[in-house]
Amino acid sequence: MLTSERIAAIRREYRLAILDESSIAADPIEQLVHWLEEALHAEVPESTAMVLATADASGAPSARVVLLKGIENGRLHFYTNLESPKARDIAANPRVALLFYWAELERQVRIEGIAALLDHETVAEYFATRPRGAQIGAWASRQSAFLSSRQELEESVARYEHQFADTEQIPPPPWWGGYAVEPHAFEFWQGRQNRLHDRFRFERTTMGWSRQRLSP
Ligand SMILES: Cc1cc2nc3c(=O)[nH]c(=O)nc-3n(C[C@H](O)[C@H](O)[C@H](O)COP(=O)(O)O)c2cc1C
Repeated sequence: MLTSERIAAIRREYRLAILDESSIAADPIEQLVHWLEEALHAEVPESTAMVLATADASGAPSARVVLLKGIENGRLHFYTNLESPKARDIAANPRVALLFYWAELERQVRIEGIAALLDHETVAEYFATRPRGAQIGAWASRQSAFLSSRQELEESVARYEHQFADTEQIPPPPWWGGYAVEPHAFEFWQGRQNRLHDRFRFERTTMGWSRQRLSP
């Protein structure tokens, strides 16, 4: 049985790597790209998956995984349904947090920033690269709305497959889009032995990025 004692006994020592003042980049975006490249190289599953935390107008938080789809001018891009709860949250409160966790590398990156809608051209360009099935899926799904059954969803897919049967280049649905998150803080965490982890926090200042080592 999975008792609390068994859960509490699950622990692991982190000893794969170190992160120190001599190896960390001065620019946190550069450091993020470097760690992402290492995660991809190490074939960490879903290396580009990141937890997106939002808060609604009343301050109630929620979190879910989305996929990083680009880094442009220091901003992190992801795509989603613009009528979803996360999009409603961002409309009310654009302050968000992002989190990458690469267990195989004993690394976490925390990011805080401001989300802004991507322009239609960028969205359309990305949408065109999605497999056709995923394009139809974006039309067929009212993300996070209640469904009476799986069949209801499959019927919606069939309707849009029919509607777009003669359309070579399916356009993005009007309710679908993306966001660019402009970070103002980062934390890089490298697991170390005896829970004495290496942590560095970056904050955007008028002079550029400040960097501090944090106690584990
Ligand atoms: C690995 C993984 C990747 C995902 N990628 C996305 C994504 O890029 N965009 C998206 O809208 N939802 C993505 N999801 C689904 C979201 O986690 C979530 O279920 C959905 O967006 C609805 O969230 P909301 O109701 O908070 O708006 C992904 C889920 C997982 C587990």
